[in-house]
Amino acid sequence: MSRNYEGKVVLITGASSGIGAVAARMFAERGAQVVAVARRAPLLERVIAECRAHSPSSFYLSGDVGEQEFAERIVQTTIDRLGRLDVLVNNAAISKHKHIYHTRAEEAESVLRINFLSSVWTTFAAIPVMLRQGWGAIVNVSSFAAKLTPPRESLYAASKAAMSAFSEGLWHDLAGSNIHVALVHPGPIDTEIWLKEDEPPSYQGKKYPPEIVVNAIFDCIERRRYEVTVPRRNPMLMTARFLRLVLPGLLRWGMQRSDPVPRAVIERARERAAAGKRLGEVDEP
Ligand SMILES: NC(=O)c1ccc[n+]([C@@H]2O[C@H](COP(=O)([O-])OP(=O)(O)OC[C@H]3O[C@@H](n4cnc5c(N)ncnc54)[C@H](OP(=O)(O)O)[C@@H]3O)[C@@H](O)[C@H]2O)c1
Repeated sequence: MSRNYEGKVVLITGASSGIGAVAARMFAERGAQVVAVARRAPLLERVIAECRAHSPSSFYLSGDVGEQEFAERIVQTTIDRLGRLDVLVNNAAISKHKHIYHTRAEEAESVLRINFLSSVWTTFAAIPVMLRQGWGAIVNVSSFAAKLTPPRESLYAASKAAMSAFSEGLWHDLAGSNIHVALVHPGPIDTEIWLKEDEPPSYQGKKYPPEIVVNAIFDCIERRRYEVTVPRRNPMLMTARFLRLVLPGLLRWGMQRSDPVPRAVIERARERAAAGKRLGEVDEP
C-alpha cells in the first residue's frame, strides 16, 4: 500500500490526546478520512477540526470504548457515514500504575475492558466489513510492558499482553483474507498518560515523541509488517529484550531493584489485612 491514504477511511480509538491525536492528524495529512474516538468531546472537536483541513468528511464520536455497544457502534457508524473502513487503529487505553496492595479487584475489569476487550469488540465488528471490501488493516497499539511487566503494572501489562496474544492469533486466523494485522509496542512516549498514573512513575528517563509511534503504524500498514517496537534503537529497551531472552531472572531482579516496594507499604498492607480489609481498601483507618 502507498503512503497516500486518499479515499481511505481510518478509525482511531483514543484520538483525543497523545499518540491517537497525532495519528489522526498525520493520517488526515496523507489524505485519509479520519474517525476519531475517545470520551473527551472538546478535545476530539479540536483534533477533527485540524483533520478536516485535509479531509473534510472526517468526524469524531465520543464515548467509552470499554462498553461493548459503543465499541461496536463506532464501526457501524463509520460504515453508515463513510461507506467503508480501511484501517482500524486500536489505541485507546488507561494507565494502571499502583502497588497491588492498593488495587481493588474491580479495577482489573475496567483495565481489561478499555485496554483489551475494546479492541476485540471493534475488531469483531470490523472483520466482516473488511472481508466485504476485500482488504483492511488492523493495528493494535500495545506496549513494551506486554513483553516485560514493570513493578506496579500487573493489570496494565496483563491487558497489553492479552492484546499482543490476541493480535498474534488474529494474524494466523486472518491469513489469506487480505486483512493485515499488526502490533506496535511503544516504549516511553511523551504523552499525558504519564500524568494520569495512580502512583508516581519511577521511570525518569527519556521520553520520545508520539510521531515515532505513528510512523511505526504507517510502516506496519504500508510494508505489511507484523510487529514493531519503538523507539527501535533505545539501549534500555534493547538490553531489556536481550535479558528477557537469556537471563529473565536477572531482568526481573533488576526491575524490582529499580522500584523496590517500600517496607512501610508492606507494613501498612499487613495492618489492613489484619483488620480484615480487602486489597485496595486504603482510605479506611
Ligand atoms: N505514552 C507511553 O509512554 C506509552 C507507552 C506504551 C504504550 N502506550 C500506549 O499508547 C496508547 C496511547 O496512549 P498515549 O500515550 O497517547 O496516552 P493518552 O494521551 O492518555 O491517550 C489515551 C487515549 O485513550 C483514550 N481513552 C482512555 N480511556 C478511554 C475509554 N474508556 N473510551 C474511549 N477512549 C478512551 C483517551 O481519551 P479520553 O480520556 O478522552 O477518553 C486518550 O485519547 C495507549 O494504548 C497506551 O497504552 C503509551
